[in-house]
Amino acid sequence: MEFVIEFINIRKDFKNKTILKDISLKINKGELVAIIGSSGCGKTTTLKMINRLINPTSGKIFINGEDIASKDVIKLRRNIGYVIQQTGLFPHLTIRENIQIIPKVEKLDKANVEKKTIELMEMVGLSSDEFLDRYPTELSGGQQQRVGVARAFAINPEIILMDEPFSALDPITRVQLQEELIDLQSKLKRTIVFVTHDMDEAIKIADKICIMNKGEIIQYDTPENILKNPINDFVNEFIGKNRIWSSPEFIRAKDIMIDHPVTCFKNTSLLRCIEKMRSSKVDSLMVIDKENYLLGITTAKEIQNKSDRNILVEEIMNTKFINVKPDDSIIGILETVKKHKIGQVPVLDDKGVLKGIITKSSLVTTLSSQFLDTEEVK
Ligand SMILES: Nc1ncnc2c1ncn2[C@@H]1O[C@H](COP(=O)(O)OP(=O)(O)OP(=O)(O)O)[C@@H](O)[C@H]1O
Ligand SMILES: [Mg+2]
Repeated sequence: MEFVIEFINIRKDFKNKTILKDISLKINKGELVAIIGSSGCGKTTTLKMINRLINPTSGKIFINGEDIASKDVIKLRRNIGYVIQQTGLFPHLTIRENIQIIPKVEKLDKANVEKKTIELMEMVGLSSDEFLDRYPTELSGGQQQRVGVARAFAINPEIILMDEPFSALDPITRVQLQEELIDLQSKLKRTIVFVTHDMDEAIKIADKICIMNKGEIIQYDTPENILKNPINDFVNEFIGKNRIWSSPEFIRAKDIMIDHPVTCFKNTSLLRCIEKMRSSKVDSLMVIDKENYLLGITTAKEIQNKSDRNILVEEIMNTKFINVKPDDSIIGILETVKKHKIGQVPVLDDKGVLKGIITKSSLVTTLSSQFLDTEEVK
């Protein structure tokens, strides 16, 4: 697989204390990885190793397959944008000078740099006319953070490191900047390493979350997988109970469906169908073929209306059924169930093979489990 940043057995000692223990990590190109963990666990140390503000005690870091220890630091940093907490803007320089500082050092064409500066201001939602000639103290905290982000993009780097860039902001500005970052990232597809304290922020913006504790990586996976399969109690506690309910788009048909719906073949008589429903205590049957393709659905109600119980189910089954896919989210499923006023919906893969069904009662069970879990905590 293609990746840009790879940590191999990184260890960092300060004095004689081990701060990072054997960190190994791969960050794929174009992904936003959020590093999260409690204060002092080593997030900033990990981040600063990527642009060699801190060097490891042992282990290696590769960027695009190249060992960064053997690279020229200036050249290395030219390809890495860095946004630090509290903006790190130079107070004695105007916003324009702050954004252009590295492009100027690089002696890039003046007209191009100016054009790019205006584009970057636009990108982070600030008016060039209004702000470029001001000094950082003449901007609000949120505006300064925006400039910090713009500056990190000024050299058009492949990698961007962000150390709690939004943590000092009020919740509204924060959410706004998170959304802008998501939007920006969907267009620019940079590799971003983003340190945060905030799990909601990580879930919202990250492709992958790296949960650290005491200098070790505890779990590294997509937000969805971390929410669904926290690896241990530490992660569980860290994400908090029922967190999945703040992100219901991650709850999918395959997570809540009944895996083995009661089925029959199309040449089953209605009499046998009724028997089968009774013995399995269900009020409908999925009619499938030998390969498990769903052909139709029949319900006890429909069968009860037929006086001839010897006819075959294929003659009366409903072949125009609504269905959902295994990866559909619970949000869409609830809408489907409501719109079509149906009590159950089969889950089919792309080819039409029956994977499970979702019934009103399985939905209710899933929805109520969040309240039951809270009960257990008491
Ligand atoms: N230069 C240094 N010398 C000695 N110890 C250091 C140095 N830099 C960091 N540490 C220690 O290393 C540990 C990890 O620090 P780091 O800054 O990486 O934590 P962090 O996870 O970013 O925390 P926070 O969330 O508070 O920013 C801390 O215990 C810190 O005191
Ligand atoms: Mg830190």
